[in-house]
Amino acid sequence: MDLTLLRKELANKDIIESLVFLSDKFKDEIVFSTSFGLEDQVLTHLIFSNNIPIKVFTLETGRLFPETYYVWNRTLEIYNKPIYAYYPDSSSLQEMVSTKGPSSFYESVSNRKECCYIRKIEPLKRALEGNQCWITGIRADQSTNRQHMDNLEWDEGNNMIKYHPIFDWSLADVKSFIQTHNIVYNTLHDKGFPSIGCAPCTRAVREGEDFRAGRWWWEDQSKKECGLHTVES
Ligand code: ADX
Ligand code: SF4
Repeated sequence: MDLTLLRKELANKDIIESLVFLSDKFKDEIVFSTSFGLEDQVLTHLIFSNNIPIKVFTLETGRLFPETYYVWNRTLEIYNKPIYAYYPDSSSLQEMVSTKGPSSFYESVSNRKECCYIRKIEPLKRALEGNQCWITGIRADQSTNRQHMDNLEWDEGNNMIKYHPIFDWSLADVKSFIQTHNIVYNTLHDKGFPSIGCAPCTRAVREGEDFRAGRWWWEDQSKKECGLHTVES
């Protein structure tokens, strides 16, 4: 895939035009992943309210916050479009929880990676299978890692184009869009949770703390990625 050409083709398009262009170019092989966070709600709104034929999916880890399930339900009610749920492989999950218990991720980094692999990474592979383009709600200023990314990338691990339509938006831009369009959002964002993942692995951040400080907070601060968007060693 020629990324330079694609970049040129998207250059003068706004977000809606870009999403329409990509949905046409990649037909039924383009997907958007939502965790129902603030950024993802912006994209879900754009896709659903403009009837753009992009499949929306979520990774249902089984450990999400009640507030996240609420947003999921409300989003279904409001837009009346399917959000495809991908679950962990039941035998792998059963084996892990049976032998290590329901909270093994606190005990070691390898246990935590095992849980993320079973609950997110393997289901993600299934969700992406057969597609050519993966859209996410990643923004550059979410972490130092992400500042080095680009809004359009080649995802070597998954062998596909990855596109982050609101990559250059600030958090204020996202909040203002949500407010202007009256979009349903996770109320945890108003309680000190800028980044929301699984409930046992996400805490609120304190004034002045990093955007992702509340994710896997008990681990080394340099981590903060679960492997969805990085190739983990
Ligand atoms: S993570 O790597 O730390 O888990 P983050 O929460 O920042 O990711 O979200 C970045 C993007 O990853 C989201 O915009 C969304 O596209 C995708 N994502 C994260 N968690 C999920 C999930 N549970 N289901 C589907 N997509 C997700
Ligand atoms: Fe498991 Fe926590 Fe990773 Fe969720 S974030 S998959 S609960 S280790």
